[in-house]
Amino acid sequence: MDTYKDTFQLPRIKGQPLHVLIVGAGIAGLSAALAIHKTGHKVTILERVREIAEVGAGIQMAPNAARILGRLGLLEKVMEKANVLEMNSLRRYKNDEELGKAELMPSVGEKYHAPLAVIHRGDLQSILLEAVRSENIPIRTDSRVVCAAPDFSARVQLHTGEWVSGDVVIGADGIKSDLRHQMAAQHGVKDICQPTGDAAYRIQIPEDKMKGDPRARELLKKNVGMRWMGPGGHIMAYPMKNNTVYNMVLLHPQKEGAETEESWTNKGDKREMEEFYSEWNGLVRDLLSYVPDGEVMEWTLNSHFPLPTWIENRVVLMGDACHPMLPYVAQGAAQAIEDAGVLGCVLALTDDIDSALAVYERVRKDRAEQIQKSAAVTRKALHLPDGEEQRKRDEAIRGPGKNPDLWADKSWQDFMWGTDVMRETVDNFDDLVARSHGYHPHALNAVAY
Ligand SMILES: Cc1cc2nc3c(=O)[nH]c(=O)nc-3n(C[C@H](O)[C@H](O)[C@H](O)COP(=O)(O)OP(=O)(O)OC[C@H]3O[C@@H](n4cnc5c(N)ncnc54)[C@H](O)[C@@H]3O)c2cc1C
Ligand SMILES: *[C@@H]1O[C@H](CO)[C@@H](O)[C@H](O)[C@H]1NC(C)=O
Repeated sequence: MDTYKDTFQLPRIKGQPLHVLIVGAGIAGLSAALAIHKTGHKVTILERVREIAEVGAGIQMAPNAARILGRLGLLEKVMEKANVLEMNSLRRYKNDEELGKAELMPSVGEKYHAPLAVIHRGDLQSILLEAVRSENIPIRTDSRVVCAAPDFSARVQLHTGEWVSGDVVIGADGIKSDLRHQMAAQHGVKDICQPTGDAAYRIQIPEDKMKGDPRARELLKKNVGMRWMGPGGHIMAYPMKNNTVYNMVLLHPQKEGAETEESWTNKGDKREMEEFYSEWNGLVRDLLSYVPDGEVMEWTLNSHFPLPTWIENRVVLMGDACHPMLPYVAQGAAQAIEDAGVLGCVLALTDDIDSALAVYERVRKDRAEQIQKSAAVTRKALHLPDGEEQRKRDEAIRGPGKNPDLWADKSWQDFMWGTDVMRETVDNFDDLVARSHGYHPHALNAVAY
């Protein structure tokens, strides 16, 4: 919290308030609701589930997200629930040798004027939800949006058949977005994703399962992110919940013929997990043995291709609906929060909705897609089989200069954590509007990765 320094003023609307419909009460939808409401517009959230539960595991709050949460007045609450990581330790799978470390806090916070932390997704969502409720922003739960109007005017239909109308519709409906499917169909684009070949186990080890293991307990009590790299996979691990739960994300090749549907709630098999990591060091193996049976989650990792556009008339996409992130760069929530901050700015700075949305896409689309694509580079670097290339990588990690793990690379950090998308939007707004006229988003697509 000490490193947070910010003078940015969220713009306020000058004209009539709009009624903004937000589909989805995830991290993206809730943040957008707060940002847009704060500028003076009226917001309604439509959420499919009957009750919003605290689901998920750890997510990273990088400085680019922390800065925006600060502007929404929520950073203090978030930091109370978060763990501030002092460094990231890059290690070899076999013998736990530390190849290098990347300093994180407080130096990253001082440099980017906002902290870096990790938090349980459920805690972050609860804080956002509580803020939305205290601002009296209506949330209609048990309200699944089945489609937008065929002309993509600001009208959506619920599963009950009811139509809900507003002035703008924001699709924050996550990785399996129905609104994205509908938009892609409109453009004759196949909305497909491609398996990366990887899956990720997610596990959370409670403190009482590691009582007899001083090495594991030490990891739990230290605020250090651990990155073990091995052939075909890597592990990212850190403490959460005030150092009482150890969070691990374990990347590994997906099993032949396995379920490729993306789901946050699929169970994984503990025995298969232990099998894949059986050649890894004893500390890792011990940690895996502490996971209660039936509590291994498995998550399929697919690449999603950039969409031709995020906007169709009065419907616009944000968050995982338009740029789902692979976990290698830990930017899923952060990029959704950037979308929210920019949507708040653009809808306040002009009452021309078309211009506002065009500027949003201009500021956000390229950047989010660059970060999305970087996951492929990181993945390759982290999963090298033992051999010449791996030895070169390890040498590079030991030395100064460009880090093969982009997450730990200084120039990449400047881009990812240092860019202030809200300030860029406000400072260059007129220019961005001018440049958005005659802007053809279709020219940008077709970059496969
Ligand atoms: C259950 C769950 C667990 C997760 N766990 C992790 C994790 O451990 N680590 C991590 O890094 N990321 C996790 N994520 C993803 C992470 O939250 C996102 O990558 C990021 O925060 C961007 O969020 P989002 O709001 O765009 O999407 P999401 O968080 O997926 O939210 C989308 C919301 O839209 C709602 N919705 C979907 N379709 C409709 C519809 N048709 N009508 C109305 N509402 C709809 C969903 O119910 C959901 O509330 C999880 C997501 C979910 C849903
Ligand atoms: C976090 O843990 C410390 C040490 O165990 C304890 O003193 C503190 O009260 C805890 N904080 C919260 C918010 O639970």
